[in-house]
Amino acid sequence: MGEVKWTNEQLLAIKEKGENILVAAAAGSGKTAVLVERIINKIINEKIDIDKILVVTFTKAAASEMRERILEAIYKEIEKNPKNIHLQKQITLLSKASICTIDSFCLDIVKNNFFEIRNISKLKNS
Ligand SMILES: Nc1ncnc2c1ncn2[C@@H]1O[C@H](COP(=O)(O)OP(=O)(O)OP(=O)(O)O)[C@@H](O)[C@H]1O
Ligand SMILES: [Mg+2]
Repeated sequence: MGEVKWTNEQLLAIKEKGENILVAAAAGSGKTAVLVERIINKIINEKIDIDKILVVTFTKAAASEMRERILEAIYKEIEKNPKNIHLQKQITLLSKASICTIDSFCLDIVKNNFFEIRNISKLKNS
């Protein structure tokens, strides 16, 4: 498959920086593709590691789809740039990247900060 020719609206959603952005578009119109491209651009242009990006979804199926499509996109970039060590590193980092449902992300925060939470509730009760 050749390169996708992004629409102007998609390009805006891919490139926009420093703002909260909301993308609403019809089913199958390329929302996930745009999100994946945004992430890939950040990895390449800003040298950000994938495990420093939080990607949350509502369903487990959407989270696994995101992880799979990000992996696919990284492989595609490696094909174009086989010597890029930063890109190769992302394959390993992807396994510990936070690409999950919002429920599992919140549960992780509670589990990982259990002692802090317990101390706060003790203070409140005293
Ligand atoms: N500008 C474009 N030109 C050609 N194909 C595109 C373009 N944008 C997206 N696509 C393709 O359209 C298909 C559907 O895209 P995608 O899964 O990202 O849509 P979606 O909006 O997330 O769908 P859903 O609502 O089901 O989650 C994919 O195969 C994607 O590569
Ligand atoms: Mg989608």
